[in-house]
Amino acid sequence: MIELHKVTKKYGSRSAVEDLSFSVQKGEVVGFLGPNGAGKTTTMKMITGYMVPTAGEVKIDGKDIFEEPLKTKKKIGYLPEVPPIYSDMYVEKYLYYVAGLKDCPKEKMNSLVNSVIEKVGLQEVRHRLIQNISKGFKQRTGLAQALISEPEILILDEPTVGLDPNQILEIRNLISQLRGQHTIILSTHILSEVQATCDRIIIIKEGKMVAQESLASLREKQSQSRRCISVRVKQTSEVLEQTLKQLNGIEDIKSSQNNILSLLVNADTDTNINEQVAKVIIEKGAGLLELSESFSLEDVFLKLTGDNTKDN
Ligand SMILES: Nc1ncnc2c1ncn2[C@@H]1O[C@H](COP(=O)(O)OP(=O)(O)OP(=O)(O)O)[C@@H](O)[C@H]1O
Ligand SMILES: [Mg+2]
Repeated sequence: MIELHKVTKKYGSRSAVEDLSFSVQKGEVVGFLGPNGAGKTTTMKMITGYMVPTAGEVKIDGKDIFEEPLKTKKKIGYLPEVPPIYSDMYVEKYLYYVAGLKDCPKEKMNSLVNSVIEKVGLQEVRHRLIQNISKGFKQRTGLAQALISEPEILILDEPTVGLDPNQILEIRNLISQLRGQHTIILSTHILSEVQATCDRIIIIKEGKMVAQESLASLREKQSQSRRCISVRVKQTSEVLEQTLKQLNGIEDIKSSQNNILSLLVNADTDTNINEQVAKVIIEKGAGLLELSESFSLEDVFLKLTGDNTKDN
């Protein structure tokens, strides 16, 4: 469905992406990982036809995107790093505007706009000015513009960046719901995001591929040992600890100095537990300052990218 063959992009004499080849099959959800400046955004711009590679080729359904740009671009919905939304437009009007830009048939406009509003949950803000809606809704509006023409392929550049834990969870659920309906590539720094939504990960560093592996085989590689989630809150309390303890998958909680709680998680528990933990902390008004996880996927990432600044 998507094929990159020896793709290189140079800015001046510097390569942002070098000799990158990979392919994505129809219906796959692929996580595109890498530290800051690795070349994720540059690669996505080339896949979507926004940027021409210095060398190599990008094929969508076997066709070079730059040889048949109109036809191939129609198959792709793109959520760039900065969503292309206009703050002085109303949500619904903006979506009609995008549908027009994308040449959606006039007689289908109403149903396309209504269905995308429903799909991404924009009903309550559809008549509001984009500048007045929250960041989470702005991101949903960005997702809606990518989805409006019902594209087969979705390219999402850090779809949850800058959102609070609740909004992250909502966007992540949305992406999970899109599974099966689209072929998706999403870039992120957040490993738990990949674990929650993707079938496969591709890790790049300095423009080059350092790993590509299915989540299933990564999981297999992970030791069966229990994981540990560490959280730092403003104020811990007995009620908070008890509520956390009742979450499915939490085996034990230890509190230490500086309001740090260490939660032992059963090995079979999926990464949604992180969000549930964050949600409880927020709901109890304990003030979430930090949440991190010692997880072998994270170790794999650090080992492969040699990056010791965790960006989440
Ligand atoms: N328009 C540009 N002109 C010159 N250099 C650029 C340009 N855009 C990106 N770069 C450089 O290319 C490299 C890759 O950037 P890119 O934005 O693709 O990385 P990224 O993986 O998306 O990073 P981040 O995680 O910070 O979003 C970086 O070194 C960046 O500074
Ligand atoms: Mg980027």
